[in-house]
Parts: sequence; C-alpha cells; structure tokens
Amino acid sequence: MSALKILVIPGSLRSGSLNAKLAAVAAHEFAQSGVEVTRISLSDFPLPIYDGDLQAKSGMPKNAVNLKRMIGAHHGVLIVTPEYNASVPALVKNAIDWVSRVQDPHETRGQVFRDRTFAIAAASGGRLGGTRALAALRLILSACHATVIPNQLALSFAEEAYDDMDRLKHSADSDALKALVRQLIDFSQRMM
Ligand SMILES: Cc1cc2nc3c(=O)[nH]c(=O)nc-3n(C[C@H](O)[C@H](O)[C@H](O)COP(=O)(O)O)c2cc1C
Repeated sequence: MSALKILVIPGSLRSGSLNAKLAAVAAHEFAQSGVEVTRISLSDFPLPIYDGDLQAKSGMPKNAVNLKRMIGAHHGVLIVTPEYNASVPALVKNAIDWVSRVQDPHETRGQVFRDRTFAIAAASGGRLGGTRALAALRLILSACHATVIPNQLALSFAEEAYDDMDRLKHSADSDALKALVRQLIDFSQRMM
C-alpha cells in the first residue's frame, strides 16, 4: 500500500498568522506519525472572486485546477481557518467554491471532495477559538459531500497558545491536536 498523504491548508495569508502556525504544528504532528505531509499556502493559488461569467468567458482558472489536483493528490486534507465575523474568510470559501466547479476528465464535478476525508481546525485570539468558523466550514464541506471527521480543534486565546518556538504551550491543546491528527489518519486510511 502506498504511503498515506495528507494536505494541510492554512486559511490565512497573513505573516505571523495564528492559523498558519497551527497548520505548521499539525504538519509536524502528521510527519511524526509517519504520514507524507504537504503544507501549502493559498498565496500560491491566487484566484479571482468566483464569477460564472468569468468562468464562461475565460474558462476555469489554472490555479483552481492546480489546487483541485493538489487536493486530489492526497488522501486527507486539514483546513486550518481563521474566523471572520463569525464565519470563514472569503479566501477559504472562494477557494472551495472554485475547486467545487473543477471537473477533470473521467471525474464528476466535485468528486475531489466526495473521495476524501477532511479535518478542520481554527485559531483565534478570542475565547471561542473560531468555533463559529468551524461550524460554517463543516457545513460548506458537507454541502460538497465531503466526509468531515467528528473531531475538530478550536484554539482559543491563540496569541498566548504558542511558545517561542511556535509549539503549542498547553498540553490540553497539543492533546486535542494529536487526537485530531490521529482521527484524520484513521479515516483517511479507511478510504484509501
Ligand atoms: C475581518 C475580520 C473579522 C474577524 N472576526 C472575528 C470573529 O468573528 N471571531 C474571532 O474570534 N475573531 C475574529 N477576528 C480576529 C481573527 O480571529 C484574528 O485576527 C486572527 O488572528 C486571524 O487569523 P490569522 O492570525 O491566522 O490571520 C476577525 C478579524 C478580521 C480581520
């Protein structure tokens, strides 16, 4: 059997992003578990705001196809999203919207979501840790018929959550991350 491959996608482009830090910690945890892990930045897949007229006129943007194929090259995906105004940032929603419209030969549209397992995590400076963004993201991915694992991680007071090596300081947080990582590995292995 080929090695399990997991893709980690931070939903923020900001330098010093609390979510990019969490994505990096998660990627390290996957690697420690013997998984082949890829961590990308959505800045490498710049996309216009979804517009059906644009798609009709110019076709599918290359970056939407590339991002869809990047997802398709992995068995499981972890999205680590900020919370903006109680939901997911436009960056994350827009990327999902484009990818959900890509149809490669011999595939149905949106198959890339149906064929693999997703996990979701969020980091925010507030007490709720991005819980509402996670609810929104779970709904969006479910609408795409993705399997989203039951475990999720909402990292609250995230500005205080990392040590000076950008590792998680509190054992409750690192235990929750480990449980998330373990469950995504288990679910993804079952779908291999
Ligand atoms: C437009 C905007 C809306 C925000 N809304 C929320 C919110 O609803 N809940 C929350 O916990 N934090 C909110 N925040 C704060 C972000 O969680 C915080 O800026 C976080 O650090 C962003 O993620 P990042 O560090 O990965 O870039 C908001 C920030 C911005 C810029």
